[in-house]
Amino acid sequence: MSDAQSVRRLTVPDLTARKGREKIVVLTAYTTPIAQLLDPHVDILLVGDTVGMVLHGMPTTVGVTLEMMCLHGRAVMRGSSHALVVVDMPFGTYEGSPKDAHQSAVRLMQETGCQAVKVESARGIADTIRFLTERGIPVMGHVGLRPQAVNVDGGFKAKGRFMDEREKVLEEAKAAEEAGAFAIVVEGVDSELADEITRQVGVPTIGIGASPNCDGQVLVTDDMLGLFDWTPRFVRRYANLRDVISRAAETYANDVRSGEFPNSAEVYKLKIV
Ligand code: KIV
Repeated sequence: MSDAQSVRRLTVPDLTARKGREKIVVLTAYTTPIAQLLDPHVDILLVGDTVGMVLHGMPTTVGVTLEMMCLHGRAVMRGSSHALVVVDMPFGTYEGSPKDAHQSAVRLMQETGCQAVKVESARGIADTIRFLTERGIPVMGHVGLRPQAVNVDGGFKAKGRFMDEREKVLEEAKAAEEAGAFAIVVEGVDSELADEITRQVGVPTIGIGASPNCDGQVLVTDDMLGLFDWTPRFVRRYANLRDVISRAAETYANDVRSGEFPNSAEVYKLKIV
């Protein structure tokens, strides 16, 4: 058996078994080459609907469509063989009814080959999570700051700073677990609340702007690579690709304008046979 054949993709049960034992490493990916680079290092590749903002310049994730998620999901599946691939269900494709959600999730799984889907799990979405998991679709929940609710919240606002809001976020996490979610993203909540959620739910929590005690962590890859000039407080930059790309483009432009590129080694020569 070749090395490529012997690599087994991680499964949902592999990851749920990690709760309280081994941290789960998650990064977003939207394209084949980035998936290829990240795949050996991470446990989950999340094809997040942040793709709309990060790659397509949208102001929020609300405009992201099922077609976009299918396209990027397929690209990430082509570029990976080890990580579990989770694809976000975009705004408007799962909230209407469990049946609508089922139709959307089946399309995502059949067209991309991904292993699971993610929904932003307000309390009313628990029935949908149950409907999907009972029909063979693994679901990751997402509580706290829910970017698809940006228009209700009036912005991307951290959650859980008031007592009733803390209770609500905790209840949403518990409801997602009870409905069958195999893991829950906890975004933009204070670290004590994230710790409480991690203690109270039996499935792994994946933190982003949450707490080091979550069972795993996720970052938007383009943020941690430093591709934007502004990064939120919870992002650690592991590279500064913005400067690298900008310097490379400037040098290339200078070389083209001065005639220094291409040189004689960078052009094809006529072969006389
Ligand atoms: O869409 C996304 O990339 C996400 C992560 C930020 C968790 O949901």
